[in-house]
Amino acid sequence: MTSAPQQPALLPLLPSGPHGSRDAMTCLFRCGNACDRPEPNGSGNGHLRDEVARVVQRRSLLKGAGVGAGVLALGGLAVEPAAAAGPARRGEGRLGRVDFTPVPPNRRDAVVVPPGFRQDVVVRWGDPVLPGAPAFDAYRQTPEAAARQFGFNNDYVGLVELPRRSDRDRALLVVNHEYTTGTLMFPTGRYDAETQLRIEMQSHGMSVVTVERGQVAGSWRRVTPARARHNRRVTIDTAFRVTGPAAGDPRLRTAADPTGRRVLGTLNNCAGGTTPWGTVLSGEENVNQYFDASDGIPAEHAESFARYGITGEGRGWSAVDPRFDLSTEPHEAYRFGWIVELDPLSPGSAPRKHTMLGRFKHEGANISIARNGRAVAYLGDDERGDYLYKFVSRDRYDDSGRPRARAHNKTLLEHGTLFVARLTGDGTADGVYDGTGTWLPLTSDTTSYVPGMSVADVLLNTRLAADRRSPTRMDRPEDVEPNPVNGRVYAALTNNSGRGTAQPADEANPVTSSQTRPALGEPLVTQSGNRNGYVLELIPRGGDHASTTFTWNVLLVCGDPAAQETYFGGYDKSRVSPISCPDNVTFDPQGNLWVSTDGNVLGSNDGIFRVPVSGAERGRVQQFVTVPRGAEACGPLVTDGGRSLFFAVQHPGEITGATFEAPASTWPHTDDFPRPSVVVAYRSR
Ligand code: FEO
Ligand code: CA
Ligand code: CA
Repeated sequence: MTSAPQQPALLPLLPSGPHGSRDAMTCLFRCGNACDRPEPNGSGNGHLRDEVARVVQRRSLLKGAGVGAGVLALGGLAVEPAAAAGPARRGEGRLGRVDFTPVPPNRRDAVVVPPGFRQDVVVRWGDPVLPGAPAFDAYRQTPEAAARQFGFNNDYVGLVELPRRSDRDRALLVVNHEYTTGTLMFPTGRYDAETQLRIEMQSHGMSVVTVERGQVAGSWRRVTPARARHNRRVTIDTAFRVTGPAAGDPRLRTAADPTGRRVLGTLNNCAGGTTPWGTVLSGEENVNQYFDASDGIPAEHAESFARYGITGEGRGWSAVDPRFDLSTEPHEAYRFGWIVELDPLSPGSAPRKHTMLGRFKHEGANISIARNGRAVAYLGDDERGDYLYKFVSRDRYDDSGRPRARAHNKTLLEHGTLFVARLTGDGTADGVYDGTGTWLPLTSDTTSYVPGMSVADVLLNTRLAADRRSPTRMDRPEDVEPNPVNGRVYAALTNNSGRGTAQPADEANPVTSSQTRPALGEPLVTQSGNRNGYVLELIPRGGDHASTTFTWNVLLVCGDPAAQETYFGGYDKSRVSPISCPDNVTFDPQGNLWVSTDGNVLGSNDGIFRVPVSGAERGRVQQFVTVPRGAEACGPLVTDGGRSLFFAVQHPGEITGATFEAPASTWPHTDDFPRPSVVVAYRSR
């Protein structure tokens, strides 16, 4: 390990524009260049003492190797250590146990897995999903075909078992399609603008794709649509039912829906979660960018829209569907930004938008069942300086298996209480970034805890409500997911170029200066802000997800192991893989954390990493996958008893300057242009 000299925290060596982590092309298409505007949170919350910000920069504070043990004592939990990575028994192939040689950083136009593993493409953009869908032809796309084919830019990946014994070798792959990249989808000049917009609109949403086990343990393949009765496309035309206390609120009513209870479509679906009752939750994230305003934003919505980054500079969709013009239909914007629930086992059922889980830039939602039987959802609002949230259901989960149990469980997200997190550091003299936290109630389904705001006000304008409770402003909360083995909760805080400038540091968001690498093989340079992200570990009090207090610690300060600010749970920094911009997280049956990344600023392609979280291996970050050039890795899912790793390769080739005719990637190499696809990796021997 080499150690770089300490740099002044706020003195970058390079000009450090806001697009610190993603390619400019991804910024444009993914989030509408959100970084070019001030972060929408102007509340001033979470600004702790500058003194802490300076103190926590000191590298010496991060040297404590005994962090894992210290945290165990803090949490007071009887935690069963996750199995450390060790030699696999021959033929076993379980990804949580098997030893592997980490994939080195690279810029290949390929999915790379360690020696001894294989990976197969399961389904690509354009592959038929519904019976009768035409074969994909990039030169003959139509909106009608897109609505029956696999959508663009796959993100969340869930796998739901089928109940019949005869289906035991099959399962339903449920996938989000977050956004579209028109310049990579269409041959230049081939389509008129309206047709192109309509195809892009149909290429958003979700897909349900039946898959079946392949010949090698851990492998899976797509079932032809004619044999797949559960296959489904959710598009911009799919009718959703609005549930919870804000359903029917006047602000949800539009000319097309005077009830305020029926919304067509879901947008910018990012991450998600599969519930214990076999449905899939999906987060509507950067929905602000889909709304135009031909004649300005009505004054009564200005404060709300500003807090949500809704500027009226949209994608021109109002030209083909007037509901996307805020000047005439401002309420349409309130109908997006929710957690949606889809029941893939019931292909004809209307998916639902749950107002009880609040409205913000939802990354995803992951459920635990608390000791008292309540369903608890952990939620992240993916914006620089925004918050972590939690929902606790009013009613209890029914695990009896009785005929009506599933119907009951499907109502759990309609009543309960929504909370926002405040994290308090305990000081840095202990050598660890850690402290205590409180879940502050915002509203139940009957009582608002925010003075001056009704229940519906809190749910429709959750960011404005949360601002009034002084929660902690975080570095872009992405996935927040409970570990089913140790009961702790892991939050990916992907990065924040403005930490230390737009927001002062605090002990939970401590890095104001970080090292990046302009290209592979080049030396590290120091930039202001948190460029490589963290993984935060939350420990519910008493191991109870319904508790309103918790302790926390920063498990990973991501980056290059040679960079002074990085920290890997106390593990030896000379023996870990570089990791940058954690985004989605999941767990294998041994309780190891798996992390995918979005926006690597260390010169390598993005990828997926395995990280044990307890025992001597705690913090041993090892890279298991790299994805092709220009892509991010999404939705990792370790399933089938730990034999299979599913993941989504999103926006391959999305590099500034690339076009359909001059692509920066041709992965998966079935065409001469890139196709976002879902992949499964497994042991080959
Ligand atoms: Fe779609 Fe928060 O990334
Ligand atoms: Ca501390
Ligand atoms: Ca994400």
